[in-house]
Amino acid sequence: MAEPPDFLSARDVGSFAYITMKDRTPQILTKVIDTLHRHKSEFFEKYGEVGMEAEKKAISLLSKLRNELQTDKPIIPLVDKWADTDIWNQYLEYQRSLLNDSDRKPSWFQSPWLFVECYMYRRIHEAIIQSPPLDDFDVFKESKDQNFLESQESVNVLCTYLQQLTIEDLDENQLKDEFFKLLQISLWGNKCDLSLSGGESSSQKTDLLNSLEDLKPFILVNDMQHLWSLLSKLRKTRKKTSIVRVDFVLDNSGFELITDFILADFLLSSRLATEIHFHGKMIPWFVSDTTLRDFNWVMEQVKHGNHEHQAKCGGDWEKYVQAGRWVYHDHVFWTLPYAYCAMFQVAPDLYAELQKACLIIFKGDLNYRKLAGDKKWEFTVPFHEALNGFHPAPLCSIRTLKAEIQVGLPPGLAEQLTASDPSWLTTGKYGIFQFDGPV
Ligand code: F6P
Ligand code: MG
Repeated sequence: MAEPPDFLSARDVGSFAYITMKDRTPQILTKVIDTLHRHKSEFFEKYGEVGMEAEKKAISLLSKLRNELQTDKPIIPLVDKWADTDIWNQYLEYQRSLLNDSDRKPSWFQSPWLFVECYMYRRIHEAIIQSPPLDDFDVFKESKDQNFLESQESVNVLCTYLQQLTIEDLDENQLKDEFFKLLQISLWGNKCDLSLSGGESSSQKTDLLNSLEDLKPFILVNDMQHLWSLLSKLRKTRKKTSIVRVDFVLDNSGFELITDFILADFLLSSRLATEIHFHGKMIPWFVSDTTLRDFNWVMEQVKHGNHEHQAKCGGDWEKYVQAGRWVYHDHVFWTLPYAYCAMFQVAPDLYAELQKACLIIFKGDLNYRKLAGDKKWEFTVPFHEALNGFHPAPLCSIRTLKAEIQVGLPPGLAEQLTASDPSWLTTGKYGIFQFDGPV
């Protein structure tokens, strides 16, 4: 048997993992510190001197964190008492045990990138929860909200498009075309994550709907047809009362979340699904990932937007939530450093929940890294193999490429891309719909 591939790591000088740890993550931490600074007077107004002390404490913990990272110090156990603290510390022990040498310790630039990058966001959370009364402060909220507000024009265009679609008049082929369109909107919506841009604004300003044709050549794996076959078959064969559940493992808030809501709305209106379940993060994560607060905030904004189609969409979405047709879930597993093949053991309850879905859509790059275990796979390895036993239900990754990992490509394609566009793996310019399940 061939050796399983090694993990992506900042140990590989010059790799994207290395550049991320060397440049991008310190930049994100600096921005977090700056955000706390800028809210100083707000903290004072709200909490008086106690707020000022808390701000100082959080900043000093975060500066220490940045220093540990930049000087490649050993990864230290978490000291807070949160829902997942013990799991994290056990995971660190496990990483230590892999080193086979009692003198060596996991460190920022030597350990698997997925582990240390997740750990950084968990340490940011630790710094905040150790600084009451600021323990509920989301250091990324401002950037997430700004991303949404700056994408207003595109949000309007999408809401208007959805409202003007007379789904009941569409024949089968037209319905498929619309489904494909909205899938692609949701794909390219993933371009706007904020961790790639170091937390700087990365809103959607172009008219995506009119750019889809031009973007098609950048879709490297296109399994949209499998998604259609699966859902349209269920639509035709299901009994009137049976449930067709589609789960979204969400990625970013702001504009990307809107594209997911639009797709989810379409799935219900077209009866391709009867229930949508969204999975979000319990803590602020990779700058722009969706938490329950973001989920509700975005929905409220759309509902109270001063544009009639937005308001109608927002109203519909709220009704879906009230009727239990849109359900929001969170689970601590999503902010742990595990590859998804470990879910069955680490979070069997979540695995069982996902098994109830007819289709699971995994949005975004980080989800892809976790699906494929963040390993240096050959580009031609089948997706099914990279999933390493993770098959709770038919699933599809919808992701723009922002990390040096991709499987399931036809022979020669990766080499061709490398020759024509050396940074094809990391800029978000290319995208995939990669499906695993019975076809
Ligand atoms: O490498 C870029 C990065 O910060 C990765 O760490 C992560 O996989 C990705 O961006 C986040 O992107 P997304 O929001 O699409 O998961
Ligand atoms: Mg993200």
